[in-house]
Amino acid sequence: MQTFARRISRVKPRLATSISRSNHSHGPQQSSTDGQPRTASFGFKTVPEDQKEYLVKNVFDSVASKYDLMNDATSFGVHRLWKDAFVSQLRPGRNGPMKCIDVAGGTGDIALRILDYARENYYDRETSVDVVDINAQMLKEGFKRFKQTMYHNTPQISFNESNAQELGTEKFEDNTYDLYTIAFGIRNCTSIPDVLKEAHRVLKPGGTFACLEFSRVNNPLLNTLYDQYSFTVIPLLGTILAGDRDSYQYLVESIRKFPPQPEFARMIRDAGFATGKDVDGGAWTDQWGGIACIHTGVKI
Ligand SMILES: C[S@@+](CC[C@H](N)C(=O)[O-])C[C@H]1O[C@@H](n2cnc3c(N)ncnc32)[C@H](O)[C@@H]1O
Repeated sequence: MQTFARRISRVKPRLATSISRSNHSHGPQQSSTDGQPRTASFGFKTVPEDQKEYLVKNVFDSVASKYDLMNDATSFGVHRLWKDAFVSQLRPGRNGPMKCIDVAGGTGDIALRILDYARENYYDRETSVDVVDINAQMLKEGFKRFKQTMYHNTPQISFNESNAQELGTEKFEDNTYDLYTIAFGIRNCTSIPDVLKEAHRVLKPGGTFACLEFSRVNNPLLNTLYDQYSFTVIPLLGTILAGDRDSYQYLVESIRKFPPQPEFARMIRDAGFATGKDVDGGAWTDQWGGIACIHTGVKI
């Protein structure tokens, strides 16, 4: 029998296990034009750009085994509704089998929904999803989970360890996919423009980019309640259920650093996608007043 390790295709070498090795493995530290090292936000902290990936990896290494449980606990299961809405909006399989890539796919929540949606609505057993994630622990959880499904050991699903910012042109060729999804993943990446550029590269012309991400709440009352809940309850649940306050503190902070809806829509257009108008129901669709948000774009 093939081992799990053999079945997860690794596009890039395994990530370094310390900050210094991480620096080494991601090349020399880049400098901005004024000679200062480039920085990135890691939650509310500012860190050297080339260390963010390592720090984010640590977060997901730490939460991987409890990730699905914690998602349910921290959102009271509401993440499931958002993910259902996301996939229903995309209607995978509506025009025949689709080749999909789910980036930052983690434990395969979106991939499973895509395959189920196509099968249940269109009797489609040919739509396929390549799940990509930078974190082998998260993929391992996804692989275990898919073992319990009818998709296991079929061409409909694959798990691949790679960086969203640089998927790798050999394994992920240009103009390949009909649908690119990324859910609750892009805010963890160091360079959003690089992720969007790769998404544009691997999609076929006319293919759809779709992102589900936490976003900005415009209603001040809801925003206050949401802030209170996020900064008190979520890190507390992280401590109690996963023994890890810091990771959940980061996850909450990273949400607040993500660009608001119109700014992210502009970034999607800058990467070469056509979007709707900059309104809710156009370029994006807010979920629960903007706590989460679905952005879509079509490759032109
Ligand atoms: C919050 S989880 C979301 C997982 C899944 N999409 C879901 O909705 O349940 C974020 C995922 O992004 C992955 N990730 C972070 N940075 C990444 C990168 N640069 N490239 C690929 N995946 C990345 C993490 O390893 C983690 O699995």
